[in-house]
Amino acid sequence: MNLKHFLVHNYQYSPSNGVVSWSSPSNIALVKYWGKKEHQLPENPSISFTLESCKTITELIFEKREGTTDGFSFEVFLDEEFKPDFHPKIETFFKRIESYLPFLKDFHFIIKTKNTFPHSSGIASSASGMSALALCLMSIEKQKDPTISDSDFIQKASFLARLGSGSACRSLEGDLVVWGEHPGIEGSSDLFGIKYPYKVHDNFKNYQDTILLVDKGEKQVSSTVGHDLMYGHPFAKQRFNQAVDHISTIKNILETGDLDAFIALVESEALTLHAMMMTSMPYFILMKPNTLEIINKIWSFRQDTGLPISFTLDAGANVHVLYPEKDAVKILEFIKLELVAYCQNGHYICDKIGFGAKQL
Ligand code: DP6
Repeated sequence: MNLKHFLVHNYQYSPSNGVVSWSSPSNIALVKYWGKKEHQLPENPSISFTLESCKTITELIFEKREGTTDGFSFEVFLDEEFKPDFHPKIETFFKRIESYLPFLKDFHFIIKTKNTFPHSSGIASSASGMSALALCLMSIEKQKDPTISDSDFIQKASFLARLGSGSACRSLEGDLVVWGEHPGIEGSSDLFGIKYPYKVHDNFKNYQDTILLVDKGEKQVSSTVGHDLMYGHPFAKQRFNQAVDHISTIKNILETGDLDAFIALVESEALTLHAMMMTSMPYFILMKPNTLEIINKIWSFRQDTGLPISFTLDAGANVHVLYPEKDAVKILEFIKLELVAYCQNGHYICDKIGFGAKQL
């Protein structure tokens, strides 16, 4: 598969206006994407759980422009509020995808978006937001060419979403998505995410993710800056090789349902991500004291009870607590009794594995 595949257009219709709408979820990486090449191509393959409740709902209103079609024409609203500060990110996204969607300058767009999670939760909305927008744009392409198959539709939407935000290409489908070429995963590609194509043990069905909101502020380091820190990083090469090995290992874990091995791999990935940030130049510590308190509590609880509770982190202080559905009652009780005290204003979100985006 190469880029040309996404350039082919066979438009038969030219709608002059309309409305399309999608909801698309967030995702949490088990093997992390951290480091990218030019054109939003990942330095290493990654795999994520798609989430169920944390999602973005986007409505895209499009209207044929009269007269000049210089530049892009759009307005963005979050929760009905005009958001000019979102403009640069969308402008960059449109520039990156213009050659794959040649109709972009023909329309004026009104992008109305909302998240099911609070805006100031420290949960990145770029994965759900960019994937929802990419899907809306693909729905317009579909109106122009109704012959696009469902699989080509999703693949191109993931390809476009990647150009908005790397991890967004893993948000369209569920319940596990791989992004980045790996010899052990058939069909995997650096260009788009694919639904994990192998058998997954029942232990991982409805896997739970309780997100503990330790720090709801703006991210201290944007992911763009973070990925850039991997250029010239002394441990970059080893890290990228490790991620390739981890994808091979997790394939085996997902098949056998080995929860101990799952816990070891996922926690090691989370801590490695943060270790990369601590050992870059400039260096950052994105965990907060309460992040460490929570991790230590999780470890003691696991040792005392033998229950398969684990954590992962994204590029911030919040903690994703991961556990099988069958242990949910006991573990949720522990979370409420022992961990919620470390959350900002006691806030947390109960989520679980989900099955991807939906057209509304
Ligand atoms: C730590 O996808 O947000 O969450 O491509 O620059 O938009 P950009 O980066 P982004 O990076 C996500 C990094 C991560 C790990 C992951 O989701 O794999």
